[in-house]
Amino acid sequence: MKKILLIAMAILAICLFMGCENDKAENENIPTKPSNMTEGDELSDIIVVYFSATNNTRTAAEYIAKELHCGLFEIVPTQKYTKEDLDWQAENSRVNKEHDNPNILPEMQRMVPELSVYKTLIIGYPIWYGEAPSIMRSFLKNAAPIPNGLTVIPFCTSHSSPMGNSAKNLFKDVKNINLQEGKRFELEPSQEEVAEWVKSLNLK
Ligand SMILES: Cc1cc2nc3c(=O)[nH]c(=O)nc-3n(C[C@H](O)[C@H](O)[C@H](O)COP(=O)(O)O)c2cc1C
Repeated sequence: MKKILLIAMAILAICLFMGCENDKAENENIPTKPSNMTEGDELSDIIVVYFSATNNTRTAAEYIAKELHCGLFEIVPTQKYTKEDLDWQAENSRVNKEHDNPNILPEMQRMVPELSVYKTLIIGYPIWYGEAPSIMRSFLKNAAPIPNGLTVIPFCTSHSSPMGNSAKNLFKDVKNINLQEGKRFELEPSQEEVAEWVKSLNLK
């Protein structure tokens, strides 16, 4: 009986330890490596930062990081968006409230990475109401000051809207950056399409 109790306690301790380690990884502001890189591989001076509520933008972001062998940082809201939150047809949904009130800056779960070590920021988001979601402004606020001379390449996914002025509007108060033409992908971008765009950027 004593032995069983000891084994149960050991299992509990391991679970608690692993839970803490996972929380730690989620809260660190260190970019992750794409799955085609190993521990020892050096990351490049490019970083891909993205927000994705329903995984479309995540797919594109992961393909980009794989192509460029660069770090990947996900903007995770402290309060994740539920299906109800994302219902733009419901008058009082979270997304509608955020859209109607530019003072709402959704809180981010993690600190942002130090951008001064990068030459290029590739930044992705879904188009919401023709623009970047409010949490992208939270990212910019937390990342301030954005380093002078940083090259910023935006990308987005959307149902049908173009990227339009969403990136220009998002970065309108950020001075001295080199904001480039962006790319809009459809809901489920293919690896080939993303790879072709990345190649056209001539970043390697
Ligand atoms: C609140 C909200 C607003 C949206 N507004 C637009 C829009 O204006 N134009 C459009 O083409 N798609 C719009 N969409 C669709 C998203 O842009 C599209 O599903 C996107 O790929 C989602 O990316 P994600 O899976 O990375 O979150 C909207 C979706 C939501 C939830």
